[in-house]
Amino acid sequence: MTAGVTAHGPAVTQVVILVRRPGPGGPTPEDFALAEQAVPELGAGQVLVRNAFMSVDPSMRGRLEETEKHYTTNFAIGEPLDGSAVGQVIASRAPGIETGAWVRHRLGWRDLAVVTATADNPSAFGVIDVDRAAPSAWLGILGQTGFTAYAGLLRAGELTKGDTVFVSAAAGAVGSAAGRFAHLLGAARVIGSAGGAAKYRLLTEELGFDAAVDHRAEPVAAGLGRAAPDGVDLYFDNVGGDHLVAALDALRVGGRVALCGMISQFTSDAPRPTIDHLIQAVLKRLTLRGFIVRDHEDLRPEFEDRVSGWLRTGELVSRQTVVNGLDHAVAAFLGMLRGDNVGKMLVRLDRDVES
Ligand SMILES: NC(=O)c1ccc[n+]([C@@H]2O[C@H](COP(=O)([O-])OP(=O)(O)OC[C@H]3O[C@@H](n4cnc5c(N)ncnc54)[C@H](OP(=O)(O)O)[C@@H]3O)[C@@H](O)[C@H]2O)c1
Repeated sequence: MTAGVTAHGPAVTQVVILVRRPGPGGPTPEDFALAEQAVPELGAGQVLVRNAFMSVDPSMRGRLEETEKHYTTNFAIGEPLDGSAVGQVIASRAPGIETGAWVRHRLGWRDLAVVTATADNPSAFGVIDVDRAAPSAWLGILGQTGFTAYAGLLRAGELTKGDTVFVSAAAGAVGSAAGRFAHLLGAARVIGSAGGAAKYRLLTEELGFDAAVDHRAEPVAAGLGRAAPDGVDLYFDNVGGDHLVAALDALRVGGRVALCGMISQFTSDAPRPTIDHLIQAVLKRLTLRGFIVRDHEDLRPEFEDRVSGWLRTGELVSRQTVVNGLDHAVAAFLGMLRGDNVGKMLVRLDRDVES
């Protein structure tokens, strides 16, 4: 037994708690604090996990509010945050899950997590194969991020061979995956938008997009008009607002929109003229379909097989931005909302584990 470790595992863990709800200017570091918490005793069917990486996600922004409607519970003041994480089992009372196994689960924002090893909810818990891909990839390209891009393109967007596809937040986690997947699944031309000159170059020079729009340098409509003069068949919307309005104008008759997320509603005070613009959906017989990735679990085995195959052959290379330490997790989260990341923004919690 090592120091600070009981018969069932370590006795305390560091966690990040919500101290207060964000003010009108959005979240600040002072809204959060590091705290120590006792690690609960392992119950039957539970495992103790030493987290190696955790994810910071745009959806966490909405969960900081008291009344924001969300597809999962909002965070409570004084309680630890949670979110996707991967780590290694260091004690187990779950049949079939040995110490040493790698798992993904939803109790990030802490070093150690006691997790119920449910087999019924693959989006909440699962064993991951780190011989197939590095642990961090199971939070990024092979995890919910990649899966969101895959399900969004195929199910909500009904991607069709030969499509011209427009992706927003295209240098980010879901967007960069959606851009590569769209090509690999048969799109003819893929256009991405991102903020700033460095990301603009990255989209075409490294991330495989055919053309790019810099939403900080010019109106999205102008950039999209130049990048897709003949129009767009499918818009994968991560941003909403000005991007959705520009896409509604650029979509061809019968075009489709996969409504994945609307991060601009959290990060921008600009007016939101989308509703007035929806007449375009009538005139052009558009299909706009919102989706939540966890409704598409039936696609997960196919997704993992296909994406790990593309990674193996080198057809797919994924980018991630890694910040070290739970004490920097809040900075990583706020940085992701500002656009500091390329690819998936992750926090490494175990310095001994390579990304
Ligand atoms: N439907 C689902 O099941 C599901 C699941 C996961 C994620 N999502 C959604 O997918 C989207 C992308 O999530 P992610 O995890 O991949 O995050 P991400 O794209 O890696 O990070 C967020 C990005 O949003 C961009 N951004 C922030 N404010 C913006 C604004 N006002 N206008 C334009 N771009 C802005 C920034 O990129 P720039 O620097 O380029 O501006 C930033 O890098 C989010 O909307 C999220 O809510 C949905």
